[in-house]
Amino acid sequence: MAIRPFIVGNWKMHGTRAMLSEARAIDRAAQRLMQVEIALAPPYTLIHPVRREAEQIGVGAQDCHPADGGAHTGDISAAMVADAGAGFVILGHSERRQGHGEKDSLICEKGTAALAAGLKLILCCGEPMEKRESGKAVDFVLRQLKASLPATIEEAGERLTIAYEPIWAIGSGRAASIDEIVEMHTAIRAFLVKTFGEEEGAAVRILYGGSVNAENAAEIIAGDEVGGALVGGASLSAESFMNIVLAVQ
Ligand code: G3P
Repeated sequence: MAIRPFIVGNWKMHGTRAMLSEARAIDRAAQRLMQVEIALAPPYTLIHPVRREAEQIGVGAQDCHPADGGAHTGDISAAMVADAGAGFVILGHSERRQGHGEKDSLICEKGTAALAAGLKLILCCGEPMEKRESGKAVDFVLRQLKASLPATIEEAGERLTIAYEPIWAIGSGRAASIDEIVEMHTAIRAFLVKTFGEEEGAAVRILYGGSVNAENAAEIIAGDEVGGALVGGASLSAESFMNIVLAVQ
């Protein structure tokens, strides 16, 4: 387990300005819980308002476009999210892979653009149920990671976080078992050490995501190589999110 757990709330496509009160409450509570690193990834429209109102927590985006700018109607570049106040970007979430047909090569390009814009990355990976059932989950995830990582990452330990989110566990109310989580995180750690060397590879945090709640968070976070959690549904209210933080501190 990382010394200071990293708990990130991914608000997905939830939240209008009415939800700023939740971000404020999370920020207030975070000031008393310095032993946990806390961040929120609200929708693009709330990055700047959350950044302005919440001083203690990290703020990030849920995606970015790989291009610097140009004729890409409706898209947002990495520099734009950084300008809005984001310090990191989540890339490769399975909802983007499935809902927008994002391939590993595109995620790799986005990651390269995000690093160039000074953002940190939370790179998501995770297998569908059929890969788990056929015993190919680890191979699938490592292949996905290898293909979606930017070619060069300086100071990977500082700038890169991996989020392992088995697709079948997301929003299902059925988190992966601790054995499944530890097996995957251990394999990811070995891959990171091979890729970035002993020191940097060991410093990259590996989060677990998929139906994390206040009841299962402590056991999950105590698992070997689990550095924190990427939380969806339970991050939408300050109370349920901070109950997770309280459970793991
Ligand atoms: O990115 C977080 C996520 O996909 C997990 O969502 O609702 O299962 O916590 P949830």
